[in-house]
Amino acid sequence: MEFKVYAKPEPASFRKHPNLPDLEKARAHFSWDDVGRELSWLPGGNLNMAHECIDRHATGTRRGKIALYWEGRDGHTETYTFAELKNLSDRFANVLKVLGVRKGDRVFFFLERIPEIFVALFGTLKLGAVAGPLFSAFGPDAIRDRLADCNAKILITSPELRGRVEEVKSDLPALEHLIIVDKGGREATPLKHYEIDYFRAMEAASDHFVLEPTSPDDFSIIHYTSGTTGKPKGAVHRHKAILGQYLTARHVLDLHEDDVYWCTADPGWVTGTSYGMFGPWSIGVPLVFFEGPFSAEGWYKILEKYKVTVWYTAPTAIRMLMKAGEEIVKKFDLSALRHMASVGEPLNPEAIYWGEKAFGLVFHDNWWQTETGCMQIANLPTMTVKAGSMGRPLPGVTAAVLDDRFNPLPNGSEGLLALKPEWPSQFRTYWNRPDVYDSRFKNGWYLTGDRARTDTDGYFWFVGRADDVINTAGHLVGPFEVESALIEHPAVAEAAVIGKPDEERGEIVKAFVSLRAGFTASEELEKDIKNYVRKRLAAHAYPREIAFLPSLPKTRSGKIMRRLLKARELGLPEGDTSTLED
Ligand code: PRX
Repeated sequence: MEFKVYAKPEPASFRKHPNLPDLEKARAHFSWDDVGRELSWLPGGNLNMAHECIDRHATGTRRGKIALYWEGRDGHTETYTFAELKNLSDRFANVLKVLGVRKGDRVFFFLERIPEIFVALFGTLKLGAVAGPLFSAFGPDAIRDRLADCNAKILITSPELRGRVEEVKSDLPALEHLIIVDKGGREATPLKHYEIDYFRAMEAASDHFVLEPTSPDDFSIIHYTSGTTGKPKGAVHRHKAILGQYLTARHVLDLHEDDVYWCTADPGWVTGTSYGMFGPWSIGVPLVFFEGPFSAEGWYKILEKYKVTVWYTAPTAIRMLMKAGEEIVKKFDLSALRHMASVGEPLNPEAIYWGEKAFGLVFHDNWWQTETGCMQIANLPTMTVKAGSMGRPLPGVTAAVLDDRFNPLPNGSEGLLALKPEWPSQFRTYWNRPDVYDSRFKNGWYLTGDRARTDTDGYFWFVGRADDVINTAGHLVGPFEVESALIEHPAVAEAAVIGKPDEERGEIVKAFVSLRAGFTASEELEKDIKNYVRKRLAAHAYPREIAFLPSLPKTRSGKIMRRLLKARELGLPEGDTSTLED
């Protein structure tokens, strides 16, 4: 396959001439069949992500190679070879089998960043069950909405997190068992009749497991993502998503046999699975997995200690590192680092310039989303980076900017960012919501929900969301979800939520609230409402700002006008207000 990669990206390449011909040549010769030939597959044309990522290495020359370096929040470390991971994930598949889990059942993960999440998730895939990762900052309502939507049968969680599940357990009749990972005996609480001790079950399980046959189109993983209306929707992926993840891990992240790679994303989100697990392990590259919280010093220590060569992170983290300053970087030996990439939010040019000063390397931005399963638009290591641009569509990807009637616009115009289906890692449906899934396809294009523009070199520039979804520190938050949580508070009569620009987090969640009779706005009430949403919904999704209004602007049909509130907040023109209630 013609898809040229330089093992050593050149610092400051973003100031050099564009390297367009290589990408165009690669595009002209590209075929997914060629990519498929680089994977190992299974008899009968079957494909299983766990086989591609673990078993084929464990039964080949990478058997003794370290696959995972884990550092716990207390500094405790563990390493796992591919052979060990095969053994453990086989055992876990047997644990699930004994519990009656069958192909297609949904198995969810609500864990801290501990190695057992890898074992359990790949064990789930081996059984042909569908893995559902959850972010550990979720509160009871967020957990209930997701598990109930797809009738999850099993949840793997920890002693610290299970309390949040218990609160909503009675709303989840399909949930048969909780598997509790009591790592290092952090908390000893007696188990209930439906709870199972992970380590005891693993000890008792056989380490002999024959993979359940899975076709490339069988479901593998479900990631919930937020939309403008309604509760989060489960984007369902297939085993064949590994083709796109493999290809992009190789050519965009530039991963090679001798690399050590760190993806800072949490496995509760798609970046943490597609590129925190699948892409890199499909190539047999060791991962660093760090449980600790963010701190500039703590992160540089990880980069130094594990001699990380390729680092994949996000703009909010980069902005926080910038804030900590450049001097602190110099205290660490980061000479192993050779390639840096970023995703999830617009990467501002200042962050790229700072990265180059601090590390002597350029952050390579790329664009994709939960639904796409893998990167679609990117700055390859071989490409000139134009600071502020997401890069160019990858070989195998057709991207365009469309007008409101879904026809492609000429270069330079702003419009709807769309992709031509079908690439292998494209989501297959939204669980239970085929209508919403169908509504994302128009005129032969998949509509991403983003607005963008292109330039004459074919680079894509992110403009904003086409909908009301808020991107706060790289996490998508649906306004409806927050509004629903807000109006459950006894003092709140009406609520509307918008994204307010923020220097560090990109956007913060801002709520406009009108109160029920008998309640008066106060600082205390504001705190109470914030805490309420934080605890019930998610620690990352609560409104950091609340404005109390006597009533909220509504259309004549009674719909709250978020857009008007946003325009007023940002001092923008209010647009058409003819439907506004008198
Ligand atoms: O709006 C875009 C923004 O994040 C959305 C996807 O979020 P999610 O499904 O959570 O997946 C995140 C990990 C890929 C996109 O629709 N986004 C993602 N990457 C970029 C971005 N916005 C600007 N620049 C990017 N590089």
